[in-house]
Amino acid sequence: MAVSIKSAREIDLMRESGKILAEVHKRLEEVIKPGISTYDIDRIGEEAIRSYGCIPSFLNYNGYPASICVSVNDQVVHGIPNKKHILQEGDIVSLDAGVIYKGYHSDAARTHGVGKISKEAQDLIDATRQSFFEGIRMARAGNRLNDISKAIDYYISGFGYGIVRDLVGHGVGSKLHEDPQIPNFAQRRRGVKLRPGMTLAIEPMINIGTWEVEWLEDNWTVVTADGSLSAHYENTVLITDGEPEILTMLQ
Ligand code: MF3
Ligand code: CO
Repeated sequence: MAVSIKSAREIDLMRESGKILAEVHKRLEEVIKPGISTYDIDRIGEEAIRSYGCIPSFLNYNGYPASICVSVNDQVVHGIPNKKHILQEGDIVSLDAGVIYKGYHSDAARTHGVGKISKEAQDLIDATRQSFFEGIRMARAGNRLNDISKAIDYYISGFGYGIVRDLVGHGVGSKLHEDPQIPNFAQRRRGVKLRPGMTLAIEPMINIGTWEVEWLEDNWTVVTADGSLSAHYENTVLITDGEPEILTMLQ
């Protein structure tokens, strides 16, 4: 397994790519309200991406038919936008998006509540987001990949939530998916040593109930096996000599 180390020039492009994606997510968050269709979310997202002269990474990736993955309630990831799927008050919706800027990908996901949501749903969203921050406390040069995975696992296990095992985070750069794979649960192996210049998409996917998931007939949409709610939080992160730099968040 070869984990690419980005040059200073590549890091600048990744930073710009990430900043644009953060702006796209900000725009998407503003439009999440009861009554909007998942199709319209995708239209608005693609338009925002293209307004920066970027290409949506996900569109046509392995045949995926949209720019934004829109996953509602028990849908974990890779939900396909649909005109007939209208968000309702109380839903939770995970938005996953990627942009390509001058050949460099960034990748980020957020879960939002639609209108007023249950405390149970909000707690899941908050813990999923926080698990990412627990993970990246370990995202320092000299540490091992499994230090990140263990930190996410330890934090989430305290809630009794299920950590999705069939999908993992990944390196990101000139390709959307690069080495290494980044599980959100502890591994037997320590994994690769983290080095400055690595760019990683760290993305816990957390279910209220079982960790087990299934694929719908569309061969894309991943749902929880028990129908429980699921949340997703992802950023593209740069390993540095010191604190990790979150490339897909606005400062
Ligand atoms: N964001 C997803 C990931 O992190 C990629 C979506 S794959 C697509 O790996 F095909 F839906 F685009
Ligand atoms: Co990703």
